[in-house]
Amino acid sequence: MIEAFTWKNDYLELLDQTQLPENVCRLKIETIESVFEAIQVLRVRGAPAIGITAAYGLYLGTRSLQTASREQFFSTLDEKIAFLAAARPTAVNLFWAMEEVKQRLMCSPETDGAALSKQLLVLATELHEDDRRRCIGIAEHGRPLIPQNARILTHCNTGALATGGMGTALGVIIQAHRDGKNVHVYADETRPLLQGARLTMWELASENIPSQLICDGASAALMRQGKVDLVIVGADRIAADGSAANKIGTYHAAIAAKYHAIPFYVAAPLSTFDMSIASGNDIPIEERGADEVRRVFAKTLITLPDADCWNPAFDVTPPELIAGIITECGVLTAPYSENIRNAIR
Ligand code: MRU
Repeated sequence: MIEAFTWKNDYLELLDQTQLPENVCRLKIETIESVFEAIQVLRVRGAPAIGITAAYGLYLGTRSLQTASREQFFSTLDEKIAFLAAARPTAVNLFWAMEEVKQRLMCSPETDGAALSKQLLVLATELHEDDRRRCIGIAEHGRPLIPQNARILTHCNTGALATGGMGTALGVIIQAHRDGKNVHVYADETRPLLQGARLTMWELASENIPSQLICDGASAALMRQGKVDLVIVGADRIAADGSAANKIGTYHAAIAAKYHAIPFYVAAPLSTFDMSIASGNDIPIEERGADEVRRVFAKTLITLPDADCWNPAFDVTPPELIAGIITECGVLTAPYSENIRNAIR
């Protein structure tokens, strides 16, 4: 199975996703600064993967505090959390994972830096394992939603590269394929960083799942031709009302799906829900540099060198366009506010 990152005794081994699919290049990550850089430039990406990597990053950033007191350790930990929190703003899993390990660490009775940092590493590996299990749960609950011979459209990348396990939306698809359902996948290329073209197509090929790559703008025409049975995407943050932030272009696919009466599902672990945010309008949306739009994957220039660009990395799909949110605890449907509140409790 593909692994986006692996803890290797005293460093984090990271599959550099900016190089895929051309080069399968594994990086040795030994500092919290390298973790920050890897998240910011998308060497590691996808909401759950970012969160788990950050947890390992906190260990890397505090492991030198061997002789620190408990108080000194937690004060430095807070600084490191603030540092990594600035890497990317939208995926709530980044903040959730770091808060989770901090809260659990605060419950441990250790009094010195050496023991606390050792415990922090244990918690990071547990978080990794926890996400692997959540992915399995999502795949399990998604099973009844995928009919035989389903033609499924997906956007961005939500598989093993984006999580600590088999994936969220892509995990549901992989499960259906393993169940022998003869699925066919349409992958949106996912401009501008091409996660669909580079990463999802690579993952689908590694699972031998029949697939076709389409330009983002082709999805509505494909639906009009009656070639899509359902859409499944992931999420970076889901508000309390069920609004789901995901890769830019997701909203467009959701509107087209609604118009053509095609079910549109979001698959995400409960760690992607942010109950402190009431509605989608309040989800912080990352805006990235103009060169990502001006050039094809940081290489060929496709417009004027100084063309003004707007480059939001995510958009928000409102709950009325979502047929269901597939989680590790079941499929949540409307009324979302009430059903999400009950699931998170
Ligand atoms: O900018 P990215 O590549 O980190 O965006 C990733 C996505 O939008 C995914 O769909 C989302 O994080 C869910 S991953 C299981």
